[in-house]
Formats: sequence, C-alpha cells, structure tokens
Amino acid sequence: MKILIIGAGNVGAHIAYLSLFSSLDEVAVYDIQKELVLGKTLDLSHSAGVLKKDLKFRAVQNLAEEVADIVVITAGMPRKEGMSRADLLDVNVKIMQDIIENLNEDLLQNAVFIIVANPVDVLSYYFYKKTGIAKNRLIGMAGALDAGRFRYHLHENIDKKISDLNPVVIGSHSKDMMCVYKEGDASLIDKAKVETQNAGAKVVSYYKGGSAYFAPASGVKTLIDAVIEDKNEIIPSVAVLEGEYGYSDIAFGVPVRISKTGISEIIKLQLSKNEEEELKSSVNGIEDSIAYLREKNLI
Ligand SMILES: NC(=O)c1ccc[n+]([C@@H]2O[C@H](COP(=O)([O-])OP(=O)(O)OC[C@H]3O[C@@H](n4cnc5c(N)ncnc54)[C@H](O)[C@@H]3O)[C@@H](O)[C@H]2O)c1
Repeated sequence: MKILIIGAGNVGAHIAYLSLFSSLDEVAVYDIQKELVLGKTLDLSHSAGVLKKDLKFRAVQNLAEEVADIVVITAGMPRKEGMSRADLLDVNVKIMQDIIENLNEDLLQNAVFIIVANPVDVLSYYFYKKTGIAKNRLIGMAGALDAGRFRYHLHENIDKKISDLNPVVIGSHSKDMMCVYKEGDASLIDKAKVETQNAGAKVVSYYKGGSAYFAPASGVKTLIDAVIEDKNEIIPSVAVLEGEYGYSDIAFGVPVRISKTGISEIIKLQLSKNEEEELKSSVNGIEDSIAYLREKNLI
C-alpha cells in the first residue's frame, strides 16, 4: 500500500515518520518546498535503514503524475497564538484550491483522502464539493485527535487507565467541540472537557510559532492503519452528512467506521434534547464558514 502526503511540514513529516510503524510499502511526499522534501525523505530513508524497515520514501516532483491508495493533505498554515482555526480559512482554502487543481483523475477516482489542514471541517467540505469524490472516500482528521486528548485529560482527572477510556468527540474541530463521556464525577468530567477544548491552544501558546504535531500525526496514523488493515474501527472523524443527525450539505465530526473504502458507516449516537442543542451551537461556525465560501463564489 502506498500513501501520498501533501505538505511536509511538522504534521506531514511526523505522519511520514510514524509510517515506519505501519504496514505500508511506500510513502511519497510532496511540498512546494522541494528541497525540504528531498531532505526529509532522505532522512526518513535513513531511518528505515536504521530501524531495518522495508519502507520506501520518495520525494514527489510532479504532483499531477502521482497515484496512491491514501492521500493525506496537511499543506496549510498552522495557527499562531491568539488565532482560531477558522482564522486560517482564507489562506488555507487557496492552498487547497491549488492542490486540487494538480491532482490527477485516477487519484481522485480511487484514493481515500484524509484532510488535516485547518479549519478541517470546512476544508473537508470544500474538498468534497470541488472534487465531487464519493463521500465515503473523504475523511477529515479531527475526532481521532480530540478524542485522544479527551482520553488523556479524563485519565488525569478521573484516574482511569487511558486504555480503559473510550470517549467520543463530535461537532466542530474548534473550542466548541462536543466532548461526550458520562461515567463518573460530572464536575471532573466537565474539567476534562474544558481542558480538551483548550488543548490545541495551550500547545500553540507553548510552541510560539506553530501548532501541535505529535498528537495530530498520531490521529492520522490511526486512520491510515484502519484503512490499510480494513479494521472497520470506530474513530470519530469529519464526514460529509446527508441527513444524518438532521444535517445535510455540511461536514463535521461524527463517530464513523473506517475500513479499506474509507468511511463505511456513520454511527448515529442517541442524543438528548440538550445534546442536540449543544451540537447545533458547535456546528454554527462551520455553517457560517460554508456560507462565507458561497458568498465568495468559492464553492
Ligand atoms: N485537523 C487537525 O486536527 C490538525 C492538527 C494539527 C494541525 N492541523 C493543520 O495542519 C496544517 C499543517 O500544520 P503543520 O504544523 O504541519 O504546518 P507547517 O507550517 O509545519 O507545514 C505546512 C507545510 O505546507 C506546505 N505547503 C504550503 N502550501 C503548499 C502547497 N500549495 N502545496 C504543497 N505544500 C504546501 C508548506 O511548505 C509547509 O511545509 C495546518 O493548517 C494546521 O492548522 C490540523
């Protein structure tokens, strides 16, 4: 199996590195910074040598000629302190447009696409509208990360083992994300929720000039492994919705099953009236951003 990573910055490079611990045969990497890709793929190839792994890393010169089983799009500006993910929309939608124009038809017809660039829910929807690919082959990576962060903060607060916790995070990949977990002290769970909602911004405030990449790359690895091993695993992810949860013509985080064809099922959670309201306010910002793209005739 082959993956193509578009964007060899912090997140892309760490996904490439984690591929050494997946059952992949080839990792192709593309970035507008051509020398950077040559350096990173050579360094990664040396890692394959050190770790005795038969994994081939290759720098892509011409994106339009490239085919792969899975494409991961991390190309885009990360946020800096004080910025929300939505603040990246104007810059990153242009980058996404540039990439889409350079993808070949064979790739668009067959590959599973994992969108990472932010705002990931809006850019996943944009990618879907612009390419017209089957919606099951479009996965936005957010819930794998947010649920992982929530798992960690729950573990810290309610003293359960990380491996025994299975929380879900749905809605938007923003401070309004909706963290769902009910077993235990409600005030401690609420504390873990707030820590999860602020987790990305906290890392940004420490990094001074970029956003998180170890945990996001780990989130992408779980999706890649679920596709290449046809796991049918439930991983909350951004999906295009057509009626599920009462929403259509939008993409946001919901629990989904991931298998070799991408999203094989959207799981319907039973939400209370209050939770339905919470979900509604969580996805307000996505609806606004989609309306903004429409106003600008970008979709
Ligand atoms: N979905 C998530 O949960 C999540 C988590 C972390 C980061 N992100 C997002 O992922 C994106 C990348 O983050 P990062 O930390 O790797 O940033 P980075 O700045 O380290 O890397 C971005 C890379 O994109 C490349 N690039 C820019 N325009 C390009 C184009 N037209 N074609 C190819 N490559 C291009 C740049 O040269 C750079 O190497 C950001 O938008 C960030 O907000 C999303």
